[in-house]
Amino acid sequence: MIYEYMKHMENKQFFIKTFGCQMNQRDSEIMAQSLSRFGYVEGMDIKDADLIILNTCSIRAKAEQKVMSLLGYLRKTKEKRPDMKICVAGCVAQQEGKSIIDRMPHVDLIIGTQNIYQIGEYLLAAEDGKHRVVTQMEDNYQIPRFLPNIPFSADSADAEKAAFQFSRFVTIMQGCNNYCTYCVVPYTRGREVSRMAKDIVDEVTLLVQSGVKEITLLGQNVNSYGRTNEVCPDNSSYNFSKLLRQVSSIEGLERLRFTTSNPKDLTDELIACFKDVDNLCPQFHLPVQSGSDNVLKAMNRKYSIAQYLQQVEKLREYCPTIALSTDMIIGFPGETDEDFEATMELLEKVKFHGSFSFKYSDRPGTRSSEFDNKVDETIKSERLARFQSRQDEISLERNEEFVGQEKQIMVEAIYEDSVKGRTATHHIVHVKGQVNTKVGAMLKVKINFAGQHSLKAELI
Ligand code: 5AD
Ligand code: SF4
Repeated sequence: MIYEYMKHMENKQFFIKTFGCQMNQRDSEIMAQSLSRFGYVEGMDIKDADLIILNTCSIRAKAEQKVMSLLGYLRKTKEKRPDMKICVAGCVAQQEGKSIIDRMPHVDLIIGTQNIYQIGEYLLAAEDGKHRVVTQMEDNYQIPRFLPNIPFSADSADAEKAAFQFSRFVTIMQGCNNYCTYCVVPYTRGREVSRMAKDIVDEVTLLVQSGVKEITLLGQNVNSYGRTNEVCPDNSSYNFSKLLRQVSSIEGLERLRFTTSNPKDLTDELIACFKDVDNLCPQFHLPVQSGSDNVLKAMNRKYSIAQYLQQVEKLREYCPTIALSTDMIIGFPGETDEDFEATMELLEKVKFHGSFSFKYSDRPGTRSSEFDNKVDETIKSERLARFQSRQDEISLERNEEFVGQEKQIMVEAIYEDSVKGRTATHHIVHVKGQVNTKVGAMLKVKINFAGQHSLKAELI
């Protein structure tokens, strides 16, 4: 039966649009690889696609609205090409399930976050019109053992694809048990589960052997890796720091990164890795979410600003060149002027290299969506604008510290008259001129100009 179906699907094109986080990007890669077993090839243009997958994000209302409007637009495309299939995957699919099809009957398949590995099989089942919603979540879910495709050939014409051969994400855990009051993740990605250490090491080894130079270990809360299930049968005290050290020692791996971390689980053992793990990049994204202890309490974050500042101090003591970035939610229910001033003070104290800041947004099922002390939209917008404009100034100050320094960049894209690369601290660097190099190569450069969002440099 599957063979018949594969023949029928041969040479069909799929197009995936990914919203949201790196976890979702990795999930899109997994779906792409799973579909290739069913004769599908990835197309570059939504217009030619026989199958369109929207891999969705529900972290903020805005992200979800974008998906819904794109689905509305696809209704007309489907009228013109009724054979084309539309699949909604990811966090919105998980949370909304059948109600998406009720509103958008032209959608063929809804596939939840724990079901993506079998997307091909579910497409087959959806053909009879019965299995159109697959969103089971298991309490004792285990992330399947899944080895990656070998990256594409070195001279891929598409710049993003070419860079992708040298820098890859590897999922180490998924789900979350923290229940921050604003966050949908426990509802969209389920209980926290960690992958077996051996599977992760095998995956990274395979990638590095096939030319990958940079790996980012991914999870909603990587610091609690291995806490809810056994990950290494020979070592019951195996944890994220040990995984980081083991992965870092894989021969040929030049750059190692990880995301995302929760300050409440950040240990001294992990901070120490920044001091003595050579290929661990001096870059750390440590979302704080607010500068006020009152707000952190209402968010159920389980750390204080004093503790956060101690961690920052220790990180900088162990690794003076570390670039710190954060996430900030502005206008959480109950956030007073004083609370917001505390957030602005935190900016001055830490001087983050960069930050992602968002207006608080009610999400279905979360505790904070029931809170009755919501902040007025105009106040939220004003506070966000003030926060972002100060952060921009600080980012520029931080970037200016690089001017005159020599850095190694990994080449991400080559253009006719310039090259784009990234420092170990994750800063984008543009080098002007015709440079004889390859994507993935390491170049030594001297930074000679700092902008707010990127640096310029000359070759050494
Ligand atoms: N409203 C606004 N921002 C949110 N985030 C998570 N949930 C919400 C919400 N309900 C932000 C947090 C998180 C980032 C990925 O998105 O800052 O770290
Ligand atoms: Fe969006 Fe969170 Fe889901 Fe990632 S895990 S896609 S950020 S809702």
